[in-house]
Amino acid sequence: MGYKAMSCFFLVIVHILLQTSCICSKVPAIIVFGDSTVDAGNNNHISTILKSNFAPYGRDFGGGKATGRFSNGRLPTDFISEAFGIKPFIPAYLDQDYNITHFSTGVSFASAGTGYDNATSDVLSVIPLWKELEYYKEFQRDLRSYLGLDRANQVVGESLYLISAGTNDFLENYYVLPKRFSEYSVEDYQKILLGIAEDFISVLYQLGARKISITGLPPMGCLPLERAMNIIHGGDCVEEYNNVAKDFNEKLHSLVANLNHKLAGIRLVLSNPYNILWNVIQNSDSFGFDHVATACCGTGLFEMSYLCEKINPFTCWDANKYVFWDSFHPTEKTNNIIANDVIKNSLAEFL
Ligand SMILES: *[C@@H]1O[C@H](CO)[C@@H](O)[C@H](O)[C@H]1NC(C)=O
Ligand SMILES: *[C@@H]1O[C@H](CO)[C@@H](O)[C@H](O)[C@H]1NC(C)=O
Repeated sequence: MGYKAMSCFFLVIVHILLQTSCICSKVPAIIVFGDSTVDAGNNNHISTILKSNFAPYGRDFGGGKATGRFSNGRLPTDFISEAFGIKPFIPAYLDQDYNITHFSTGVSFASAGTGYDNATSDVLSVIPLWKELEYYKEFQRDLRSYLGLDRANQVVGESLYLISAGTNDFLENYYVLPKRFSEYSVEDYQKILLGIAEDFISVLYQLGARKISITGLPPMGCLPLERAMNIIHGGDCVEEYNNVAKDFNEKLHSLVANLNHKLAGIRLVLSNPYNILWNVIQNSDSFGFDHVATACCGTGLFEMSYLCEKINPFTCWDANKYVFWDSFHPTEKTNNIIANDVIKNSLAEFL
């Protein structure tokens, strides 16, 4: 073999090796747990008043489909699924239009209104986090009969698991209901939530998950609903809530470091949306937004779920001009910005 032929042969081998290693490390499915930030419509199928399967929700989703996502379009997890080359959106586990054929490449067990604390999911009778894990176990059984044991175990081990919760524990529970607030200081309550998050991740790990992302809290004092209730301070962001979020995210960061040390072979990352969302809120013009303190839906102050519905005459025309879609949830455009940031800063190692 001449020099040229040999180097060509060598290149071919390298190419094959690279391709094989790509196939081995590729993420076959994205599996989602959490709250409304990532619920693709599970709440449509349970008895709760916290739903969004009606217009104008979803008005920019595939030509206008109110799937139960709390936005005008797609969620960060949908954009992540697309960026991983899997599929453009992740269906809800309880949606009868989908089955294991679809779920084997991505599924959401999330439920709007839930939290780490069981008492949070009780507030609006939504799916508690422990129950999302029970659904996941059922999914694993279905996956094994669909793919066979070996292939199913491979999918379980190579999939990317995304967990996004916590905001409701503070804004729907701790700061609005007397029980937890009177029982615990906010530091102690954070500790309890972190303990539940740790147990959740450990159980997922025992069930075979290895690539896991846990999401930090957003600057939750800047959600339009919180601003609207902060009238005494001129509708500014509620600084206390933002500080609690930042503090919680730092503690999550330590938890992630500890668990990476403790659980052999785990690859746990923190996906922190705080900084990018804060940046968007502070510099909304440079992202092409005109409105940051009020949401697109209704008056933009209080409306979400049933208060945000199609006969509300105030709803905006162009959601892309708004950071928030309803008083508690970002627009699709903001979700896309968050997803890109999280992929770049936390999930890139799994791509
Ligand atoms: C899943 O649904 C598809 C239709 O979308 C159908 O063709 C397929 O047979 C179903 N698979 C199972 C395992 O039920
Ligand atoms: C939440 O409730 C479930 C079911 O009752 C229970 O198994 C679990 O221990 C509870 N979690 C906490 C942290 O109390």
